[in-house]
Amino acid sequence: MPTMPASAGAAGLPDLLESTRRRTLELTGAVSDQELERQIDPIMSPLVWDMAHIAAYEDLWLVHRGGGKPLLRPELAALYDAFETPRAVRGEIEQLNANEAREYLAAVRARALELAAQQEVDAEIAEMVLRHELQHRETICQTLALAQLPGFDPDFRESPPPAPGGHSGLEFVEVDGGELAIGASGEQFAYDNELPRRAVRVERFEIARTPVTNASWLEFTSEGGYHERQWWSDEGWAWVTAEAITSPLYWELSDSERPLELTSCGPRALDPDRPVAHISFFEAEAFASARGARLPSEAEWEAAAQWQHGAPSDRSRANVGQISFDTAPVGAYPDGAADCGAHDLIGNLWEWTASEFDGYPGFSAHPYPEYSEVFFRKGYRVLRGGSWATDGRVASPSFRNWDLPQRRQIFSGVRLVRDVPQ
Ligand code: AVJ
Ligand code: FE
Repeated sequence: MPTMPASAGAAGLPDLLESTRRRTLELTGAVSDQELERQIDPIMSPLVWDMAHIAAYEDLWLVHRGGGKPLLRPELAALYDAFETPRAVRGEIEQLNANEAREYLAAVRARALELAAQQEVDAEIAEMVLRHELQHRETICQTLALAQLPGFDPDFRESPPPAPGGHSGLEFVEVDGGELAIGASGEQFAYDNELPRRAVRVERFEIARTPVTNASWLEFTSEGGYHERQWWSDEGWAWVTAEAITSPLYWELSDSERPLELTSCGPRALDPDRPVAHISFFEAEAFASARGARLPSEAEWEAAAQWQHGAPSDRSRANVGQISFDTAPVGAYPDGAADCGAHDLIGNLWEWTASEFDGYPGFSAHPYPEYSEVFFRKGYRVLRGGSWATDGRVASPSFRNWDLPQRRQIFSGVRLVRDVPQ
């Protein structure tokens, strides 16, 4: 990985670690220990596993590998290693309880701060550890949404800006074709899967000004889109029929007069101006074909995600950082629009791309193959841009997320692209 932003260096590190942890504890503190210790959904870890795993990762990378100290609790290393203890078994095995996990987090943190005070922390490792916790905070939000906890309402929650109106997700802006560089620029921390930066060619195309809205998606469900074989890929059709899927996860259409969306903080009327959320890659793809459009390739997405004055990374220009704890109406952050005129590329919801997760030509695993490489060419699809639950430090134009094409717990939405006559 190339050089780091100055803020992650030893000087700013204690504050960054502290503010990150404060929010992790606020989030996990908003639910009972019993909820923390329960495996809420088989595809997710018990929240208490995420907590102890955050501690184990910090101890392994920052204190042990970075600082040369022995592990605090070597007997826990395998239990909290994501590969030695896969999600499928995390619900059944013995592990730390909520109190023990909080103590483990605090004890590791004390060691990390001691090293930071002695200026003995490698900036690259510090940034990686910080981002690891930030990424797990988003995973924790996915689990909380699945739990549908009554009355869940974190104190820090603020309403997003109002809907500007006039967006459906079906209006397009043009993006020039040509050669462009994609991947991380090398000026900031980057994950191995964003490198090496390389030149690609894209043909001129059109990209939707905003993600697809609930209003537009409701038309798709009403016109029977989920039952229309022609819109679906073979794999998508097999999935949608086998699972009897008829709407996005968290939609409640039983009272057709008053459709609901079940959010992390309870049900609310389905908002026509918010982006459709919690759809699988298969659904995104089917909707796109029903509208004579398609999903962007990663290169197209990055070609659209260009800002002359810098990509938005804070809440003044994007719905990031878990502030609203919800999606915002599409187009509600006009100051964050990309140069091509597309809104919400950063934040609000991850956007499915057509691309399968793989290494860029010349890829080399760094600093460990389990971050990216073990997921290459296994059918994972890339998502871009970050969601409301993604920290602004993590969401960047080159950041690549990935999930399986049938998954809907992730904060995913869809933005269409289409060809223009060349
Ligand atoms: C990049 C979000 C797919 O959660 O599996 C966390 C991030 N890697 N711990 C994941 C990650 C190791 C990763 N994603
Ligand atoms: Fe992890």
